[in-house]
Formats: sequence, structure tokens, C-alpha cells
Amino acid sequence: MYRFKDYYHNQVQLSFEKNPFSSLPKHVWVVCRYQDKWLLTNHGDRGYEFPGGKVEENETADEAAIREVKEETGGVVSSLQYMGQYRVSGKEKTIIKNIYYAAVSELIQLDDYMETKGPVLLDELPDNIQQDRRFSFIMKDEVLQQSLKRIIGNKQD
Ligand code: GTP
Repeated sequence: MYRFKDYYHNQVQLSFEKNPFSSLPKHVWVVCRYQDKWLLTNHGDRGYEFPGGKVEENETADEAAIREVKEETGGVVSSLQYMGQYRVSGKEKTIIKNIYYAAVSELIQLDDYMETKGPVLLDELPDNIQQDRRFSFIMKDEVLQQSLKRIIGNKQD
């Protein structure tokens, strides 16, 4: 279990166990790869981030992950792996989010990417992402760093 503060100094707990905080999390976040690149979305207010959002009434968290990738990037998920979960304890509310790793096989051009400006493909994620104003606050804490460590570690196996 990892404990740290996010960009806004909210307390975060992160674990790569199966459902450490909730078996019915209400939020999802999906680290995506497409054609050997990282696939992000450009959120209208927050900037570049991996796609994600809220789980709707009639869907599972896994279904929400696939839907959010599609809505925010046009990406078709060909494989989805649960990685872990984190809890952000904010002043007003606490959220619990599943982290996934997804391989995207196809990028479909959409007319509307919901509250985002659509897909962003990057060869590399910059080392100084914390200082890079193009990136969303959700990319600026240890959730990203710890998740990437696991993904990159697995790739080299
Ligand atoms: P609604 O008004 O119900 O739509 O919710 P919201 O737009 O306030 O946002 P949401 O419920 O998605 O998140 C509530 C708060 O949790 C946000 O204001 C953020 O501060 C925080 N939050 C959401 N997602 C993340 C995340 O991935 N990482 C971190 N560190 N904080 C997050």
C-alpha cells in the first residue's frame, strides 16, 4: 500500500491488490497503448491525461473503462487488464478509482469526444510531467509513476 498527497494535497492511498478499497468503485482510469505509443486524451479543462471517468448506473467498472476510452479518444480496446485501485480523500468527498492497462487496436475518428478535445499520441511521457503545464493534475502524482513502473517492468519480462 502506498500513501502520498496528490497535486492538490489530498491524501491518496494506492494498492495493486484486487479491489483493496471497494468491489464496486465508481471511477476508472485507463493507461492506454496504441501502436507503440501512449494514448491519452486532451481534457478541455485539465489537459493531457489517460482517459477515464465515472461508472454509470447500468455498467461494471470494466465496461466503463472500455466506454471511456472510446468516448474520449475513439480507441477500441482489444485487451483490458485490471492493475490496481486508489482512493483520494478530498475535502468534500472521497473517490475510489480502478486503474487499468489497455491495448487499443483501432483509433476511430469521432465528431464528438465528450468533454475532451480527443486523442493525443505520445512516443514518451516526459520525465518532468509534474512541471509540464500541458498535463492534467491527475498525471502528477505517484499513481502514474507506480503504474508505469509495473507496466514497463512487465514489458521487459
Ligand atoms: P461531480 O460534480 O459529481 O460530477 O464530480 P466532480 O466533477 O467534482 O468530480 P469527481 O467526482 O470526478 O471527483 C471529485 C474530486 O476528486 C475532484 O475534484 C478531484 O479533486 C478528485 N479526483 C478525481 N479523480 C482524481 C484522480 O484521478 N486523481 C486525484 N488525485 N484526484 C482525483
